[in-house]
Amino acid sequence: MREGASASHEAPVRVPVHLGVIMDGNGRWATSRNLPRFEGHRRGMEAVRRCVRAARELGIRYVTLYSFSSENWSRPAQEVSELMGLLKRFVRHDLAELHASDVRVRIIGERASLPRDIASLLEEAENLTRANTGLTLVVAFNYGSRQEIASAAQRLAIEVAAGRLSPQDITVERLNASLDTADIPDPDLIVRTSGEQRLSNFLLWQAAYAEFVFLPIYWPEFDHAALLGALEEFARRERRFGGISARSGSARP
Ligand code: FPP
Repeated sequence: MREGASASHEAPVRVPVHLGVIMDGNGRWATSRNLPRFEGHRRGMEAVRRCVRAARELGIRYVTLYSFSSENWSRPAQEVSELMGLLKRFVRHDLAELHASDVRVRIIGERASLPRDIASLLEEAENLTRANTGLTLVVAFNYGSRQEIASAAQRLAIEVAAGRLSPQDITVERLNASLDTADIPDPDLIVRTSGEQRLSNFLLWQAAYAEFVFLPIYWPEFDHAALLGALEEFARRERRFGGISARSGSARP
């Protein structure tokens, strides 16, 4: 899939087809204001709404939000339960509007170990919006990229052991097709807020050729202008996918 021109006149000429977002800094936003961490997550939820709205307006086709990582279970039980509560609230309050806006909701991550009510809400969101063709909102929940790759490898190993595949059949394409993101194009751009510059087990395989933009704001501060700034930076980058520059023959940076 190619990057496209935006539907909106205010967008940079080149917008990513798929934007990945590492929503970082809710806790720091809250503690720097003497507020409980939960308030940061609650305001982070509002930033999620702004992000989805802005992405739709700018003509982005896929947005993947890193909402809860496999490693987030190590947080205090109260914070884990608050994050679960926020997800439930998000589905209950926002699903109808997302559906009316033609947004398709997809979930990636490990589901078997999730509380039953959460798992069935996620399923409900996917089922209701399955036929929508506008923005695809991919919620990475209980997601870890290494775990995703290991599970895909296990499934392929089972096929080999059963004699349905040979080891030579395990190609880049087949492994790609065994991931949670099988029919989702690779992210073109990954944005992380809070100034931290790392991937933290997010879309490791899929981000092989992604551009990265690290924003010096906390996630609750994210808005349309912040997204536009990241897209402008993205539009200035030259993506070579391992090839050589179309602009110049210079070997110097
Ligand atoms: C990172 O901030 C954020 C999270 C671990 C959770 C993100 C969740 C939301 C924004 C709300 C739920 C969203 C959906 C789509 C249901 P942090 O707590 O790691 O911040 P810190 O690094 O400053 O402590």
